[in-house]
Amino acid sequence: MKLLLSRVLWLLTLVGFAAGPLSARVLVNGERWTDTDGQPINAHGGGILFHEGVYYWYGEIKQGQTYLPKVNKAWGGTRVLAGGVSCYSSTDLVAWKNEGVVLPSNARDPDHDLAVENVIERPKVIYNARTRKFVMWFHQDSPNYQAARSGVAVSDTPNGKFQYVGSFRPNAGVQPLNATAADLAPGKGNLLARDLEGGQMARDMTLFVDDDGTAYQFYSSENNQTMHISQLSEDYLRPAGKYARAFVGRSIEAPAVFKRGGRYYLIGSGCTGWDPNPAHSAVADSIFGPWQELSNPCQGTGAEITFSSQSTFVLPVAGKPGTFVAMFDRWNKWDLTDSRYVWLPITFDAKGLPVVSWRDRFTLTELR
Ligand code: GAL
Repeated sequence: MKLLLSRVLWLLTLVGFAAGPLSARVLVNGERWTDTDGQPINAHGGGILFHEGVYYWYGEIKQGQTYLPKVNKAWGGTRVLAGGVSCYSSTDLVAWKNEGVVLPSNARDPDHDLAVENVIERPKVIYNARTRKFVMWFHQDSPNYQAARSGVAVSDTPNGKFQYVGSFRPNAGVQPLNATAADLAPGKGNLLARDLEGGQMARDMTLFVDDDGTAYQFYSSENNQTMHISQLSEDYLRPAGKYARAFVGRSIEAPAVFKRGGRYYLIGSGCTGWDPNPAHSAVADSIFGPWQELSNPCQGTGAEITFSSQSTFVLPVAGKPGTFVAMFDRWNKWDLTDSRYVWLPITFDAKGLPVVSWRDRFTLTELR
């Protein structure tokens, strides 16, 4: 009996050992992805930084019970207590090593920006060659999403820990580059004018670093109706005081930005909370616009709801100019901890416009 038990245990260990590294090396879109320890990868609404030969994937930690706060009942904004920001590292984009929690939430002080009751979403990290700091920006918010602020944290190393700098509404006291007198005229429902003094609302966001090292924050503003494209200061720690409005009244969120052949592209989503909707795409010759809206870049079965997912980042693949991975979250609104990932290559049609087609798996070979 004892012998049998030890044989069974031995067999289970063997199977477990084989399953761990094996499952970590095949990323099946929409399945549960595991890290090199065989644990589910917990990095939602995230983005990737490539630094000195290593990819670092930062994302929201979704853990604990999913609940629907009373204050969010009207729009179905379920949530979990904020878990902070995780980081995973990889050299091949498939085997991801858990680097730990690089920006923890705060379970002790309910008045802290990073309090677990608050919102910490869509973290993005960029490297500032001048200051040699890794700078993280994210969507910081109150439990009912009405604070609509940007949070900033900074680290000397890519895998943290990040020191929290603070949060604010961007561009307080600054007029957009492209605002007309009518845009600025105070009036009912004019959120841009309302927030000119105190700073603009900022929810879903991404960061983009241009070839010359200038960085920009794209954030859904004016209660998600209009996107702002905001240049960052040289140290990347605050807005530089130069921003433009784009997609006015188009309600685009979940922005992901990339550059190809000197042109800027954006992929985003509509505003339907965790529920999927048709993706948006757009192109511009200058980062501040004008941006020309294109059609839904997704093609094939499920394209009308972005393959049941929502954009979060576009990754330029290192050493393969013109090769991009579009990263999406497949949210599970009633169990946010079980939200999944969908990564798809971006191809370009005869007119050079981005196309995202379904593939079952994500591997580097799929990108060729
Ligand atoms: C989505 C947004 C997510 C998250 C969610 C909350 O619209 O893209 O990042 O904020 O709403 O319900």
